[in-house]
Amino acid sequence: MKIAVLTSGGDSAGMNAVVRSVVKASILKGCEAWIVREGYEGLVRGNKEGETKDLYPPEDKSQSGTLHNLRFGDAELLKDGTGDSFAIGGRTLKGRYIIRVGWDDVRGWFSQGGTLIGTARSKTFRTQEGRLCAAYNLIKEGIDALVVCGGDGSLTGADVFRSEWPELVKTLREQNKITDEQVQEHTHLRIVGLVGSIDNDMSMTDLTIGAPTALHRICESIDNISSTAFSHSRAFVLEVMGRHCGWLALQAGVSCGADFIFIPERPPTGDSWEDEMCAAVHRHREIGKRTTIVIVAEGAHDKTLQPIKPDYVKDVLTERLGLDTRVTTLGHTQRGGRPCAFDRILPTLQGMQAVDALLEATPSTPSYMIGIQENKITRIPLVEAVVMTKAVSDAIKERNFEKAMSLRDPEFRE
Ligand code: F6P
Repeated sequence: MKIAVLTSGGDSAGMNAVVRSVVKASILKGCEAWIVREGYEGLVRGNKEGETKDLYPPEDKSQSGTLHNLRFGDAELLKDGTGDSFAIGGRTLKGRYIIRVGWDDVRGWFSQGGTLIGTARSKTFRTQEGRLCAAYNLIKEGIDALVVCGGDGSLTGADVFRSEWPELVKTLREQNKITDEQVQEHTHLRIVGLVGSIDNDMSMTDLTIGAPTALHRICESIDNISSTAFSHSRAFVLEVMGRHCGWLALQAGVSCGADFIFIPERPPTGDSWEDEMCAAVHRHREIGKRTTIVIVAEGAHDKTLQPIKPDYVKDVLTERLGLDTRVTTLGHTQRGGRPCAFDRILPTLQGMQAVDALLEATPSTPSYMIGIQENKITRIPLVEAVVMTKAVSDAIKERNFEKAMSLRDPEFRE
């Protein structure tokens, strides 16, 4: 089997560990390992004609049964800024987005931040025409198994791609782009999703790849800010990422003893959150705190669904409590950098599970998302996880916060 792996959507620490794990597990199980550069965009662009063959050393039969003939060399992204070149095993590959890799290509990747194979939020793949190109490019390389690592949007894309696959193959045959033989070989696409996202916003899994590192990064920043806040007896309002999910904000607040936290899932309920926040901060100051930390999740809003803006929170603290207040937006420092230990372990275990799931897949088994639940690596039907994630965000939009929380955690009690 030929197994390709791609990373998609916003990057997260641990994505390189996913690629490393999928590549090594594929090779160990006797499969060919491929990477797709620049997420779904790379699938749509594919490889220019005539550049597919003769890139790899001829197989050394005398070494068969060892990994020797699979060691193609160290892959390294060219920093030429064009995004169109990729150097691998000493060869510079232009116009190639779907590339076979070997054991050594991914050596040491698990300690690297970001994603070395690139990622994108592809607009083209959202169209059926784009997905038709993607299917053609995969079939051209003989690939019929795909591991997608990304957030809920990317996994939704994976689900659509898989369900549309027979129709795409039929259209490609009608357009004479593929042969009857290729149609027979690619009747269905095996696809598995791994959740790479700092937001930890995917339902039916306890933790997403990259979330622990981002949380760690936020805690470090709050520690740094706290020391300067202490010196000046200041207040700081910190905006953290997370899109529509308050996990990062909530966990960071608990880890660092924040005075007040705003999250989308639980907007302040009283008539005035300004009064509520000021009362809490005032109380803490009264008992001797020299620092004030207020955390605002980027998706936070009040009970009428108006966004809560850090600058406005700052004005409230300054004007009502007379606190010398600053705003810090942590931004992409939360997303970049080396993964923490757990963001190496989780992708390593999930990558191995993903390859097993692909090998065991049949046309009648669902596509799986690999998750972690109660410390066990699990397989969850991708479509169920995608539907449940959407149900949670719809419940938040409808301001039905209790429903949102109980969908995320069936044991949740107010
Ligand atoms: O989904 C990950 C995430 O970092 C969110 O927390 C944030 O809202 C968004 O991506 C930022 O996206 P971009 O890097 O495109 O600005």
